[in-house]
Amino acid sequence: MLSSIVENQIKFYAILWLLLLHPAWAEKKVDFNQDVRPIFSDKCYFCHGPDAGDIQGDLQLHTFEHATSDRAGAGAAIVPGNVEKSLLWQRISRTDMEEIMPPQKRHMPLTETEKQTLKTWIEEGAEYDKHWSFNHSLKR
Ligand code: HEC
Repeated sequence: MLSSIVENQIKFYAILWLLLLHPAWAEKKVDFNQDVRPIFSDKCYFCHGPDAGDIQGDLQLHTFEHATSDRAGAGAAIVPGNVEKSLLWQRISRTDMEEIMPPQKRHMPLTETEKQTLKTWIEEGAEYDKHWSFNHSLKR
């Protein structure tokens, strides 16, 4: 009898704890607009951006559809949830300088923090812009 009361109490507090914790987790998620877009626009859009005039390597990174599309059988720049398979991660994390992105000759390497932000964002599913009004109404 007593033990089942204790058991119920434990369940109650466990659930309460999870409920309280949940929003804190959600806020920690990498946000495209806040965290990812500034990196892309500083260091990638110059060559892989929305401006069709100067696309390099036939790759655009500004929409989910472009970034996740198949690269002629070589995989995709972004494979949501799978950082190892994402060409983007391979190209920003590798140390052989011929291949690194942004190209070394541009002299604008990604910082470790920026790499980690992109990595986490891909691991979390590479969500692009949420619906603007939805996003807005949730933020203070
Ligand atoms: C100065 C221009 C330039 C900038 C800036 C640049 N890239 Fe690239 N990128 C290229 C070129 C050119 C290619 C195609 C040749 C190659 O694969 O090396 C390419 C290819 C790629 C590929 C490989 C696509 C494939 O099909 O294999 C990825 C992924 C990539 N870039 C990601 C990035 C990311 C992420 C950034 C920013 C952190 C970035 N690039 C910045 C010029 C650029």
